[in-house]
Amino acid sequence: MKGLILSGGKGTRLYPLTYTGAKQLVPVANKPVLFYAIENLVEAGITDLGIVVGDTKDQIMAAVGDGSKFGAQVTYIEQPVPLGIAHGVKVAQDFIQEDRFVLFLGDNFVRDGIVPLVRNFENEAPACQIHLYKVPNPQDFGVAELKDGRVVRLVEKPQAPQSDLAVIGIYMFDHHVFEAVNNIRPSARGELEITDTIQYLIDQGLKVSPQIIAGAWIDTGKPGDILEANRLVLEELQPHIEGQVDKDSQVNGKVTIERGARVKNSVIRGPAIIGEESEIINSYIGPFTSVYHHVLIEDSELEHCIVLEHSRIIDVESRIEDSLIGRYVEITRSPKKPKAYKMTLGDHSKVGIL
Ligand code: DAU
Repeated sequence: MKGLILSGGKGTRLYPLTYTGAKQLVPVANKPVLFYAIENLVEAGITDLGIVVGDTKDQIMAAVGDGSKFGAQVTYIEQPVPLGIAHGVKVAQDFIQEDRFVLFLGDNFVRDGIVPLVRNFENEAPACQIHLYKVPNPQDFGVAELKDGRVVRLVEKPQAPQSDLAVIGIYMFDHHVFEAVNNIRPSARGELEITDTIQYLIDQGLKVSPQIIAGAWIDTGKPGDILEANRLVLEELQPHIEGQVDKDSQVNGKVTIERGARVKNSVIRGPAIIGEESEIINSYIGPFTSVYHHVLIEDSELEHCIVLEHSRIIDVESRIEDSLIGRYVEITRSPKKPKAYKMTLGDHSKVGIL
């Protein structure tokens, strides 16, 4: 079997973080979300991987390389314009050829991996296997309607969902999918939809097998969801301390301090992770916080946050919570009179002041 990971598209819902950065590279517990997908595939024995890339191709290639660090071989496939998930499959036809494959959307996260799902697909050998997860907001996803355990209809982001079963971004196909993607028409939003692709297979009388998954699934495309994925991974954190913690600091619970990080006169209450070469000085880092590399946090308190690389948070009086802080961000006191908030915020930034 092969693996096909979609890592193009536009990250509009994670703006401003994704104006310049690929949404699939936003870190969850200090590891790009895309890496979890690659690891899930390799764990299931699938090492021949195609990654569909768009505008952010260079960043994705720089992060993943040839795949050898994951024990995989990666072929990059360009999708010139993001015309839909099914279009991403279409452009990968030469890579997949006649093989069966797993399609994995590069911003999807599953806590328990995909090993049993792949084994089931291999044994049952349907034309397609989809994976469903009960959600409170099915209108935000592709939704499946089942009858007597069979999939009868799939609808993309329906206004009036007929079930609470979201179709998650992990699909398994045999070669019939290419007939489908070459026959369907763009939807009202102008995309070749993966739901229409699977509906085509159903309408042709091919077997589409539904698997309801129990372990957590998160589409990390929105800020709250990425914090939730971060929380799930940190809960399972294998703590280790490679950086320096001085004698005036306290480290409680599951905490990882990566190489070159320095913690001075601070309290780190896990689960939390402090990235390479970051400095925490006179500060409190509370549970479910991931601080990426080369970050400075001084005289400040953070909890349930993700802070990306090279940001500086200095002397912030009130605790920062539930926040997603981008790259090279500075949050400091205004040094000059008049005493006022002074901000340089990019488009779509959100600030909650006290
Ligand atoms: O996350 C699950 C949902 O993913 C499903 O329930 C929906 O049925 C499915 O359409 C999809 O919905 P989204 O609106 O979340 O898809 P999004 O546009 O965010 O794209 C998903 C991933 O695929 C993302 O990593 C970007 C990539 N992509 C997307 C498009 C449209 C591409 O590489 N190329 C594309 O043309």
